[in-house]
Amino acid sequence: MHDFNTLVSFSFPTNILFGCGAVRSLGPHLKDKGMSRPLIVTDKNVAQLDFFKSIVKNLENQGFSIQVFFDIHKNPVKSDVLAGGEYYIKTNRDCIIGIGGGAGMDVARAIALRINHHRDLFDYDDLEGGDKYVTESVPYFVTIPTTSGTGSEVGRSAIISEDDTKRKRILFSPKLLASQVFADPELTYDLPPFVTAATGMDALTHNMEAYLAKGYHPMADGIAIKAIKMISDSIEDAVNNPRNAKARGEMMLASLMGAVAFQKGLGIVHATAHPLSTLLDMHHGLANSMMLPYGMEYNLPGLEDKFKLMETALGTNKSVYNYLHELKSCLGLPDKLSDLNVTVNHLDRLTELAYNDFCLPANPRKAGKNELREIYEKAL
Ligand SMILES: [Fe+2]
Repeated sequence: MHDFNTLVSFSFPTNILFGCGAVRSLGPHLKDKGMSRPLIVTDKNVAQLDFFKSIVKNLENQGFSIQVFFDIHKNPVKSDVLAGGEYYIKTNRDCIIGIGGGAGMDVARAIALRINHHRDLFDYDDLEGGDKYVTESVPYFVTIPTTSGTGSEVGRSAIISEDDTKRKRILFSPKLLASQVFADPELTYDLPPFVTAATGMDALTHNMEAYLAKGYHPMADGIAIKAIKMISDSIEDAVNNPRNAKARGEMMLASLMGAVAFQKGLGIVHATAHPLSTLLDMHHGLANSMMLPYGMEYNLPGLEDKFKLMETALGTNKSVYNYLHELKSCLGLPDKLSDLNVTVNHLDRLTELAYNDFCLPANPRKAGKNELREIYEKAL
């Protein structure tokens, strides 16, 4: 039961223009804001895609001076951000467009922070109280998602790793919210089935974990439950029928809704998935899909009512645990960590990293190292 004498804070995101063709409003929007020299930040893969080239061409045809920065790592590191910040200054830019999945968007957001904040980048690490140094303005910043998973387009944080240790650091400030999101489902039509499935499972994990996370946030709970239903309705269609506007549109919105909802917190699924990416370079969405059934199974005791509501949202009469196993099999995703070259020898290190993961404290059920190791053993 929530104590209504306790103050809680709710934040909601930026302006979102959603729908097929939304990206065509980018040029007029920037003109309206008096911008003329954007730096587009993306990753190497997106930079090669036809829709990306046509966005650049369309902006140039409208008289914009465009520079593109795409030389970033799959898991972005500090030197990517520093190089991007120098490029912004050297090429005399006046705004930033982040286009991509999580990596491109994280670097774009971190560059936006970097331009007028010149301490060591990790002085701004939120987990070490760094947001108090975010005192200056940031350049005008808009985002365009090209996957439906991270929801980073509506986020206020950027996850950037240290170059040498690969330790993940979180740069956070409400100032890092994009001023405008252009959420255009057509940009996801050509994603390969595996990417659609794995990123979609990431979005499902965000919503389920946010819904169960500790804390009082009925608005986030409502958003998460609705998004769980949208994903259940659309994820298989988005994988098997990729140019379906409804399926792609619902997945894009549900992913964005997940990122709105997880301001409440995430939990044990992300805490056990992150080490699989850090240690074994596993795709983030795939890692979540591997751990999701087991994390949900762990969280069930004491939360039976919430699980009932999730089952209703999923439209199933099965348990959440069984539903998730069947969904993964329909999507062609692997079921066991051992299918992905994880062995019993990895478990000590994985457990240690999961125990220290920043997502674990929000999990509704406490977990120590023994419990975390048991979850990995089940998933193996
Ligand atoms: Fe995630």
